[in-house]
Amino acid sequence: MTKLLLDVDTGIDDALALAYLASLPDMEFVAVTASPGNVDAHQVARNTLAMLELCGRTGVEVAVGAFAPLSIPLVTTPETHGPQGIGHAVLPPPSGTVSAQHAADLWVEAARAHPGELTALITAPLTNFALAIRREPRLPELLGKVVIMGGSFYHQGNTTPTAEWNTHVDPQAAKEVYAAYRGLPVDRLPIVCSLDTTERIELRPEHVLRLAEAAGCSERELVLPKQPEGLRSTADSPLVRHLSDALRFYFEFHRLYGQGYLAHVHDYFAAGVAAGTLDYATRLATVDVEVESPLLMGTTVADYRNLWNHPPNARIVSNNNPEQAFGELIRSVGGLAAR
Ligand code: BDR
Ligand code: CA
Repeated sequence: MTKLLLDVDTGIDDALALAYLASLPDMEFVAVTASPGNVDAHQVARNTLAMLELCGRTGVEVAVGAFAPLSIPLVTTPETHGPQGIGHAVLPPPSGTVSAQHAADLWVEAARAHPGELTALITAPLTNFALAIRREPRLPELLGKVVIMGGSFYHQGNTTPTAEWNTHVDPQAAKEVYAAYRGLPVDRLPIVCSLDTTERIELRPEHVLRLAEAAGCSERELVLPKQPEGLRSTADSPLVRHLSDALRFYFEFHRLYGQGYLAHVHDYFAAGVAAGTLDYATRLATVDVEVESPLLMGTTVADYRNLWNHPPNARIVSNNNPEQAFGELIRSVGGLAAR
């Protein structure tokens, strides 16, 4: 059993990541914390509870922590994920309620209770993670595998020409997290899924159709390209219905920005890396984050050649396998939706 500790800003691709992890029988959700990012933290928590319940994972502890980045105001992105964060999907209100604990305390408590055993995945700005490290500086040593979705090293950014969204929302938090990993053994270093490889995971309508088929739904029940705006899927499977409506918004957003009718499902890929189910390779690097320059705010820089003469603090994913990632998503989430 893999014990998961997640921090998310659900978010369309976060929702897909949650559905994927929920579809794997050997994943135990220890807790999920909500970071402000794509939408505000309250909405993230509602979306997260609703998604977990939709996937049959009731009773998972979901907590909020920070409501804003460490030192700058929060900017959300309704244009990317829709006003509620789940695109065109309207999720049923969750029956579960938000935990009374602060996200950072929950992380510290969970890591102390299961030293070296937790697989941590952050698909959001690193605000809650940085706060947890401020509370417990040994946190990087107490966690097991740590996977972060964030940054862009060789590639263009997706928020500014050089900065990726999660890092741009809270650059200071990202800087503190990477600094906390200086000098740790290689097997403790976070595995960083940056845009360099997550943007290779280009989900297309045909993948959603295949997922629906795997769940026993027909193409007619989906609302994918060519249908008028405002229509919703009529698929019998609530999971397929909501994912289809959510992803349609993500396809439309990517098309609007000239990338075609497809969606980069960053957080799904990071979830597969955390679960150990997707193929990837990594390279060691020392990572730092720009927190002052208006031009380069939130830009991540990787020193692969040890020019800074600092020990590495990250394992950056350098290669992945999109076809394998799609096959796994369709098989596993399709299977969950068919149950
Ligand atoms: C990241 O930004 C968010 O909008 C996505 O959910 C993902 O975590 C990609 O840059
Ligand atoms: Ca996210």
